[in-house]
Amino acid sequence: MKKIKIAPSMLSADFSRLGEDLKMITECGADVIHLDVMDGNFVKNLSFGPNVIKDIRKCSNAVFDTHLMILNPWNYVERFANAGADIITVHHEACGDKLKDTLKQIKDLGVKCGAVINPDTPVKVLEPVIDMCDMVLLMSVFPGFGGQKFIEYVLPKVEQTAELILKTGKEIDLEIDGGITLENVKSCKDAGANVIVAGSTVFNAPDRKLIIEQLRNI
Ligand code: DX5
Ligand code: ZN
Repeated sequence: MKKIKIAPSMLSADFSRLGEDLKMITECGADVIHLDVMDGNFVKNLSFGPNVIKDIRKCSNAVFDTHLMILNPWNYVERFANAGADIITVHHEACGDKLKDTLKQIKDLGVKCGAVINPDTPVKVLEPVIDMCDMVLLMSVFPGFGGQKFIEYVLPKVEQTAELILKTGKEIDLEIDGGITLENVKSCKDAGANVIVAGSTVFNAPDRKLIIEQLRNI
C-alpha cells in the first residue's frame, strides 16, 4: 500500500500572501505542495513562473510538485529546476513526440519527473514512458482553472494506470488533480491514486489542518 500524500494546490491561495499561505499549509500537514504553472497558451489562464517559485521556496521544506501547463516545456524546465522544484510534470498534450526526451531532460537536471494526461487522453500513451516516471498525473478536470467539477469517467483510467504501474515493479506515485472533495476522494484512492491534489477544497475550508487530515484518512 503506497503512502497517501495530500498536495494542496497553491492556485487557490491568496496570491498577495503566497509565502504566508505556503507556510500555513505546510504547518497544516501538507505532504506535497502542488504548483500550477499556466502560460495562457496551453491553457486559457495565467498563473506564475519560476521567479515566484524561487522566492516562495524559502517558506517551506515540503516537496514542490510543479505541474507545467505550458507549451514547449523543454525551454523552461531548467529554470524550474533551478527555482527549487522537486518534481516537474509535463503534459503529453504539450510535448507530443518529445515527451520522452523532456522527461529525460528533467531527470538529467537531478529532479524527479512525471507525465500528465488530460481526462480525454487514453492511458496507453503513458506506456512508452512509464518506466522513466517518478509520478504519473491524471487530470480529473480539463486543466486551466481551480474549482471545477470532478470528471467521474477518469476513475477507470486511474485503475488502468495503477495496473500499468504495478507491471513496472517500480515505486511510481499516481497523482490525481482536479475537483477533489471529501465526497470523491475515497473513490480516487480505491482506484489506486496515492497523491491527492486539492485546491479549492483545502483553501475554502475553515479549518485547513482538519480538511487535510480528513482527505488523508477518509
Ligand atoms: C487545474 C489545476 C489544478 C487545480 C486544482 O488546471 O491543475 O491543480 O488548481 O484545483 P481544485 O482542487 O480546486 O480543482
Ligand atoms: Zn495541477
